[in-house]
Amino acid sequence: MSLRTTGAEGVTAPSAARTLRMDAWWVEPALTVLGLGAFVVYSTWAAFQNAHYYAAPYLSPFYSPCISANCRHLTFQLVGGWWTWSPAFLVLWAPGLFRLSCYYYRKAYYRGFWASPPACAVRDAHGSYSGETRLPLIFQNFHRYTFYLAVLFIVVLAWDAIRALRFPDGFGVGVGTLVLWANVTLLALYTFSCHSCRHLCGGDLDVFSKAPGRYRLWRLVSRLNERHMLFAWCSLIGVGLTDLYVRLVSMGVIRDVRFF
Ligand code: FES
Repeated sequence: MSLRTTGAEGVTAPSAARTLRMDAWWVEPALTVLGLGAFVVYSTWAAFQNAHYYAAPYLSPFYSPCISANCRHLTFQLVGGWWTWSPAFLVLWAPGLFRLSCYYYRKAYYRGFWASPPACAVRDAHGSYSGETRLPLIFQNFHRYTFYLAVLFIVVLAWDAIRALRFPDGFGVGVGTLVLWANVTLLALYTFSCHSCRHLCGGDLDVFSKAPGRYRLWRLVSRLNERHMLFAWCSLIGVGLTDLYVRLVSMGVIRDVRFF
């Protein structure tokens, strides 16, 4: 005998049914798989290229900071000549971990890639769920520490954007300069709208009136935090397009327009 469940509007369905939802609930997880999948494929390909990541004065964010002796454009040297692989692999792990453990992305890829669950009120594809209290997902709790790393990257990318004003023949502004500034702005909005940042600003306070500065900061970060998902996607697309722009200029496929 099959059990039956009843939805909010009194619709009855067999308990084996995946969901009572009649809307296109699958669109969001499908878009997540497409978007994140495309970014992972492109960024991995770009990291393996080990070429066309610098077109003076623009440095691709996938290779920044460039810290090994084999860099085409050294930011500062931390790694000697023994490193012969792509310099991107020395740095990409940090922003990668930050995004991987982001609260928003966790929700998105648990739904999109693991169908756990695929959407609200849709049956989980897996028989059991142990949450994030056991290995390996317990490591997601390191997110607050990856936030500090991400802030360092914002400083480095802001420095790259400043250096994008310094052309071989002096001060100037090109399309690439604007691209690098837009990239670091979107990444900063994503980073400072992080839930860990919000907690850092006001999370451990009992009485806001005794810390008005931190209260103002917390209010500001809370407003950014409301749009964290938007910033997550915009900055992801932005950083990929920035690498693509620098790559195409470096390859000579497109020409960087210089305003002055
Ligand atoms: S919660 Fe998304 S970056 Fe921290």
